[in-house]
Amino acid sequence: MNLKNFIYLCTVVLVFNCSNGSDDTVSQPDPNAKITYNANVKSIIASNCLQCHGNPTANGAPFSLVTYTQVKSKIDDILPRINSASSPMPPTGQMLFKNIELIQKWKDDGLLEN
Ligand code: HEC
Repeated sequence: MNLKNFIYLCTVVLVFNCSNGSDDTVSQPDPNAKITYNANVKSIIASNCLQCHGNPTANGAPFSLVTYTQVKSKIDDILPRINSASSPMPPTGQMLFKNIELIQKWKDDGLLEN
């Protein structure tokens, strides 16, 4: 092989390697993935609810929302209150819409723990 052909071959190999665009190591969020308590809901409750709905409860909150079972058993009370503009939970004002939507989707997906 002469030098010109060798350079040509190298270029082809290089271009092929760079343009072979499927990079298996990049993980995209799966739009069909189900919402689970441990992966998605727990941290939202922790940052927005537990200063009152902790164990023990504080500031007059009527129950704890610390465990999966507690949150799951209250979901039908939680959803109207996090969606309410006139008496929201948390009382300081509604959470970001994406958090409200996530908790709604958690119920739609079947209230999975993991
Ligand atoms: C600053 C304290 C505080 C925070 C933070 C808070 N709550 Fe409450 N929560 C209360 C108090 C006090 C009550 C009882 C009075 C009332 O219903 O407004 C209550 C009541 C509730 C009720 C009972 C509704 C009913 O009709 O039975 C639900 C459900 C609830 N909270 C869910 C939540 C959720 C979910 C969060 C977080 C997104 C949250 N709360 C954050 C203080 C708080």
